[in-house]
Amino acid sequence: MKKIVGAITLAFLVGLSFHSPVSAAESKGTVDAVSGKPCFKCHRSKVKAPFVHGGLADKECTPCHSVTGGNHQNDPILYGVKDKSSKICYECHENQSSKKSVHGPIQENDCLGCHAPHVSNFKYQLGLPVDKLCFECHDKSLVTDKETDKNGFRDGTSNFHYLHSGEKTAIPCLSCHDVHASTQEHLIRSKGINGKEEVTITYTTTPKGGNCTVSCHDALGYERK
Ligand code: HEC
Ligand code: HEC
Ligand code: HEC
Ligand code: HEC
Ligand code: HEC
Ligand code: HEC
Repeated sequence: MKKIVGAITLAFLVGLSFHSPVSAAESKGTVDAVSGKPCFKCHRSKVKAPFVHGGLADKECTPCHSVTGGNHQNDPILYGVKDKSSKICYECHENQSSKKSVHGPIQENDCLGCHAPHVSNFKYQLGLPVDKLCFECHDKSLVTDKETDKNGFRDGTSNFHYLHSGEKTAIPCLSCHDVHASTQEHLIRSKGINGKEEVTITYTTTPKGGNCTVSCHDALGYERK
């Protein structure tokens, strides 16, 4: 997701201006015309945290909030967010929803299902650390059941998610899946990481299962029977 060239250029220019003694003062960002104060002065929690979203670089609020006339302290809707769907995110990030497989929440335009728009305690502006995130929406039995007859990733009834990502092996979900979208079925990513080595993953579906070739080992398959 890298359609942020404009933003980066801007950040670069701002970065340069820090070296000039004239504009060494802290940026005010968007200012509230009614009180004459910068927005962040009254809403500090939106700009202070271990991780602050790059979209609030320089404490600007207007990329996402419509700042119209009137006193918003009486009528908060005046400074409401323009759009709570992914549309607002696609102003700066790449829309991947035309790829072959697209994750459910992306299809539903729900970036906020996983990301916080302003600040976060976790990397990537996530609402939860990545190892807990998946089980907010997916049943834990996906990886805890040794045998299964419901999940797709199984050979006969042997649960391949248990085999790969159960407590013994614990391969991270994102070693195989892309969290947003992929050019391969079932969100299988085409490039993965094995230790320090980058590997290519070629995945194909079969009528009752799938085959996977990873550049560092032979083709392996599974069949639900
Ligand atoms: C002088 C202090 C002050 C300034 C400056 C200020 N706000 Fe607010 N803002 C408030 C107060 C007080 C409320 C109402 C109570 C609350 O929800 O926090 C509010 C509410 C809001 C809400 C609605 C919150 C909700 O729960 O619905 C938004 C959005 C908002 N402000 C955005 C902004 C933006 C954007 C700016 C700058 C253009 C700004 N504010 C500047 C004090 C301020
Ligand atoms: C990248 C987009 C984006 C930017 C930039 C942004 N906001 Fe928001 N803001 C949102 C979204 C989306 C929501 C709605 C969140 C929700 O409903 O879960 C929101 C909600 C809010 C709210 C009310 C709900 C809450 O979380 O308390 C306040 C207050 C607020 N923003 C203040 C600000 C201020 C002040 C700035 C600038 C310093 C700012 N925002 C910049 C996207 C943004
Ligand atoms: C005004 C432009 C803008 C908007 C709108 C915007 N972003 Fe961003 N976003 C950025 C910039 C700039 C970065 C920092 C890029 C970097 O560090 O490589 C960023 C980074 C991110 C990151 C990665 C953080 C990290 O740690 O690498 C996530 C996740 C993200 N944005 C999600 C969202 C979501 C979700 C929305 C919609 C609610 C959104 N963005 C809207 C500009 C924006
Ligand atoms: C199901 C949860 C989930 C949803 C929904 C989601 N993301 Fe993410 N996003 C993540 C995770 C997890 C990462 C960290 C990926 C990693 O560790 O490689 C991430 C990383 C990112 C990054 C930074 C790294 C990169 O891939 O460039 C951006 C930008 C981003 N997301 C934007 C978005 C936008 C925009 C949306 C909505 C269209 C969205 N995300 C929806 C979970 C999600
Ligand atoms: C906000 C809710 C949410 C979160 C969080 C979430 N998912 Fe999903 N996921 C869905 C929905 C909705 C679907 C589509 C319906 C279904 O298959 O259950 C889906 C489907 C999938 C699929 C099947 C895709 C296909 O084409 O067959 C995979 C793989 C997947 N998710 C992986 C993950 C991983 C890995 C994580 C954690 C990084 C995660 N999900 C976190 C909601 C979520
Ligand atoms: C070794 C690679 C690999 C790992 C690691 C992996 N998956 Fe999968 N996953 C797959 C394959 C392959 C499928 C497609 C199964 C099929 O044929 O329908 C799949 C399918 C899914 C589905 C769709 C439902 C289903 O049962 O088919 C979800 C949801 C899912 N994975 C979530 C996760 C989560 C969450 C994790 C981490 C706990 C994870 N996956 C780890 C390979 C993997």
